[in-house]
Amino acid sequence: MPETTPSPSLAELVSENGGARGVPIELISVSKRYGGSPDAAVDDLTMTIPAGEIVVFLGPSGCGKTTTMRMINRLIEPTSGRILIGGLDARAQKPDELRRHIGYVIQQAGLFPHMTVAANIAQVPQMLGWDRQRIRARVDELLELVGLDPVQYRDRYPRQLSGGQQQRVGVARALAADPPVLLMDEPFGALDPITRESLQDELLRLQEELSKTIVFVTHDVDEALKLGDRIAILDKGSRIVQYATAEEILTNPAGSYVEQFIGGESSMRLLKLTRVSDVALEQAVRARATDDAADLRRRMAEEGGDCAIVLDERQRPLRWVSAAALEGASGPVGELPGGEEDRIDTVISGRSTLQEAVEALLNAEQELVPVVGKRRHYTGVVTLATVQQAIAEIKERERRLRRERVAAGQSAVSVAAEPAPAAVVPDATGRDGGDTA
Ligand SMILES: Nc1ncnc2c1ncn2[C@@H]1O[C@H](COP(=O)(O)OP(=O)(O)OP(=O)(O)O)[C@@H](O)[C@H]1O
Ligand SMILES: [Mg+2]
Repeated sequence: MPETTPSPSLAELVSENGGARGVPIELISVSKRYGGSPDAAVDDLTMTIPAGEIVVFLGPSGCGKTTTMRMINRLIEPTSGRILIGGLDARAQKPDELRRHIGYVIQQAGLFPHMTVAANIAQVPQMLGWDRQRIRARVDELLELVGLDPVQYRDRYPRQLSGGQQQRVGVARALAADPPVLLMDEPFGALDPITRESLQDELLRLQEELSKTIVFVTHDVDEALKLGDRIAILDKGSRIVQYATAEEILTNPAGSYVEQFIGGESSMRLLKLTRVSDVALEQAVRARATDDAADLRRRMAEEGGDCAIVLDERQRPLRWVSAAALEGASGPVGELPGGEEDRIDTVISGRSTLQEAVEALLNAEQELVPVVGKRRHYTGVVTLATVQQAIAEIKERERRLRRERVAAGQSAVSVAAEPAPAAVVPDATGRDGGDTA
């Protein structure tokens, strides 16, 4: 790549950064007025998007989400204000160079129909002058990364792919040159719910590995809550009504606009956000099939609880034994007669959400469901009380955080209002961001 940029460029920052990791994005009093319109499409927006986080823009149609996003990669120039990417003024970067370091994924993938999957993905690497072998290896690596078999898919044309597959290729293309920033504008909007959910899961998995800074636009509240490390709820002109974590928005919505947006069911939505591994599990008395029934009865009387769980030699749940079944029984526990209701058919994993746990509890014969870890290893049990307790704790924690924020004089848009750190590089263009509309 020719090294002609006079000031430090994003390219240099990226290579210093080891390529992959996300960098912060700061928008400082950014406005956009389209010619002929009396209202600003984006009106004095100030916010910080932290490095390595997924920030979701959630807001009604026409509120300025796409405009905001396209100002970050300079497909649209702001009328006023400044945008810093990794501390560097976006205006000091050449637009096409800037865009090589900002992946962009849009609805319906926006793939070039006359180019193969491989050629679509290879676009930016080609512009960067990579050699053929490196490009080919990168294309295959990316296809694997997004869950498509390279041998099967690299030479196909977009029309030979399903919508979900095209979207995966879109993500692969955006990641091609390992940019620190990804902009995703309703990328999964046109997909059926199942494909959509699996792509959301993929994105979260990828993000765990890659730690990009991702700006993600959606209209879907559940998608926002699931994906966003933080969510910006926007009103007309990209005005920030609340900028907070999903938990905070659900437990402490900043006014009726946010409430309207997220709809009811906020406790149900909290259930979806919380993993079983995040809550304190209860424990049943453990037994082996070879344990003596009379011994087990004594242990249950001592340790409390009227149900014991029988595990196999690899700590995997086999069945329940009730205190009543042990009454007057002797011999090995494994030889006690047991009914249908004693068999353990359903277990849940620590990765399950509390919503899935409740679903399992409502369908189970027992009032408790075992939780298993790796290799179906028993780790504890969940009951409805466990779930209730966990939700109460989340609400209490959020109330405490809120009191602390209020005491510190911060508002619902506190994250947005945080003073942006000083730019690393002075604005190389020398312009001062005056309204040039
Ligand atoms: N090129 C343009 N010229 C004039 N006005 C525009 C242009 N692009 C967008 N607008 C207007 O700017 C406002 C914000 O548009 P934008 O596309 O950013 O909204 P959005 O939040 O992305 O909406 P949606 O959810 O429907 O995609 C709208 O009122 C739109 O009509
Ligand atoms: Mg839009």
